[in-house]
Amino acid sequence: MDLSNDTVVVITGAASGIGRAMANSFGAAGCKLVLADVNADDLEVADGEVRASHKVDTLTSITDVSKADQVEALAAATVDRFGAVQVICNNAGVAGKGDPWLGPIETWEWTLGVNLWGVIHGVRAFLPRILEAGGGHVVNTASIAGLFPGFGPAYDASKHAVVALTEGLYHAMEPSPIPVGVSCLCPGWVRTGIIDADRNWPDELGERPELEAGQEVLFNYIRTAIEEGMQPAAVADMVVSAVRKNRYWVFPHPDFVEIAMDRFHSIGEGVNPVMPNESPGLPPREQMVAETMAAVMAALEAQ
Ligand SMILES: NC(=O)c1ccc[n+]([C@@H]2O[C@H](COP(=O)([O-])OP(=O)(O)OC[C@H]3O[C@@H](n4cnc5c(N)ncnc54)[C@H](O)[C@@H]3O)[C@@H](O)[C@H]2O)c1
Repeated sequence: MDLSNDTVVVITGAASGIGRAMANSFGAAGCKLVLADVNADDLEVADGEVRASHKVDTLTSITDVSKADQVEALAAATVDRFGAVQVICNNAGVAGKGDPWLGPIETWEWTLGVNLWGVIHGVRAFLPRILEAGGGHVVNTASIAGLFPGFGPAYDASKHAVVALTEGLYHAMEPSPIPVGVSCLCPGWVRTGIIDADRNWPDELGERPELEAGQEVLFNYIRTAIEEGMQPAAVADMVVSAVRKNRYWVFPHPDFVEIAMDRFHSIGEGVNPVMPNESPGLPPREQMVAETMAAVMAALEAQ
């Protein structure tokens, strides 16, 4: 689709990282922007940045995407302000701490609430309004974790679900006489605040889970990989290009896609799952396992 100063683009998780970069890339295309996030302070800064850089109209909204009523209110406020909406970027996402099997269930509730239900609410609230506007585009931010697991079970599960529902949406929209494009964004490491996502842990879920003994090892390596990851602006520019060219897959990291392809080959062969020993940006898995075991033993001895 063409992007112009008549195009209204809504971005969730717009206060930081990839969402904030998307705001700048769509702003550079002249689009009117609706920026939604739970973090009011960061949202104000992002809004100021995008308005100063691109001189576009914006609306900001404190919206928790895990809550259907808040996402519905966001969609209504968008149409109230701008008269229509053409593009929704369901981008807000989190990655929690805590042991998935022995730790608190709230880590699952939070991760699935934001990463999966946030996307479901976003599609359900905005799709009818995009159709009313005569067409547009839906961008769902999944992750390479949506194509092969290994980033934590709750995160992996949420992102696999986003990949699946986004593909379903693509098939549903393809024959539609009203054109609605669909894109699925699956990045690897991107230089954002995701590793500290629990800064937004909601009070209503009780005490914020912490890292368990040994989890720090992988966590610290992932922090480094993210700090050395792709710039969010490069990812955002790929998203804008995918919307313009109506491209479904947005893969900023081809090296990670190779791992996904190996996984699907081994599924086809019916062999038991094997974790890749080498993942981009991380030391060999054997080394991380050995360091994790040493950290667990040290914690036990200290007790
Ligand atoms: N950074 C990476 O390496 C990476 C890789 C793959 C996928 N992703 C995905 O990219 C998306 C954006 O994350 P990011 O990396 O830019 O992280 P980020 O932490 O920099 O930005 C995420 C934004 O989402 C907001 N947010 C959190 N909970 C929310 C909620 N309930 N409602 C609305 N907003 C909420 C945060 O306040 C923050 O502004 C996420 O879906 C994430 O899973 C990131």
